[in-house]
Amino acid sequence: VQRDMSTLPRVYVTRQIPSEGLKILQDSGQVQFELWDSDDVPVPRKELLQKVKGVDGLLCVLTEKIDAELLDAAGSNLKVVSTMSVGFDHLSLEELKKRGIRVGYTPEVLTDAVAELTVALLLATSRRLIEATHEAKTGGWGTWRTLWLCGYELANSTVGILGLGRIGVAIAERLAPFKVKKFIYTDVAPRPELAKAINAEYVTLDELAKQSDFLSVCCALTPETKEICNKNLFSKMKNTSIFINTSRGGVVNQEDLYEALSTGQIAGAGLDVTVPEPLPTSHPLFTLKNCVILPHIASASYSTRNAMSALAANNLLLGLRSQPMIKELKL
Ligand code: DGY
Repeated sequence: VQRDMSTLPRVYVTRQIPSEGLKILQDSGQVQFELWDSDDVPVPRKELLQKVKGVDGLLCVLTEKIDAELLDAAGSNLKVVSTMSVGFDHLSLEELKKRGIRVGYTPEVLTDAVAELTVALLLATSRRLIEATHEAKTGGWGTWRTLWLCGYELANSTVGILGLGRIGVAIAERLAPFKVKKFIYTDVAPRPELAKAINAEYVTLDELAKQSDFLSVCCALTPETKEICNKNLFSKMKNTSIFINTSRGGVVNQEDLYEALSTGQIAGAGLDVTVPEPLPTSHPLFTLKNCVILPHIASASYSTRNAMSALAANNLLLGLRSQPMIKELKL
């Protein structure tokens, strides 16, 4: 029987998302959806503002700012915004709440992938892997030398976590077998349940900076955490410490980080996230050997990205049916 699709709720999908998510939308028979059919360039803002007019649901990724302008352009039909991300700093929660729009997001399914990448980035930075391959390839590899390309090891170290949530715990669990001596963390308040799992001690931000041999940022970007990693923090860190950020670039003051890295205030930094993204190739941070920069790939495994797209699609469909989503943000 041919169904009249034109009566179904309308959805706009802002990206060509991985196939698992698309298939769920297609097979549901519950929505008619239009898609920005590219993964290489984000939908231009002007086009997005046009396309969202009158939609009931929106499935987006982190490159789309979901703010008052966009919500006004969408209009009063919009009931659900589902983002294919765990981060939600691109969503204006206040504006969404004001309009009674429900929000889905994708925590947990990416925790393993992000923790794994964080460990990889930490090791690449502390053991200077990128510098090392470059030297090997470009003729810098002379005789075996006693202190050449030496770095810092995890054994016997103190690892600090700024913002202890699921991802911070998963990182600590993976680092523990490297014989880390002590885990410490800071957050707005102690999180004993999570901390117990990794035997981590709650400390102030100052103490975190002072004690950490490896400092891994795992917090969400909020007005409170914006540029929380600044001169004040870096100046308290040891000059043998490694700074790692796989959360959001906005938690770091990049000028202060550049200063700390270029003056030897800290030993190295590994960043998966920056401001802006992409970081222009002319950015001073790219000139530093002790700074490893990745293009926001922490959750980038095939299985995780498919799981994220499936969760985002299911959240959207459940929301449009006025049912509880699998993962819904409390506004
Ligand atoms: C997120 O989900 O917020 C990441 O930054 C991309 O996986």
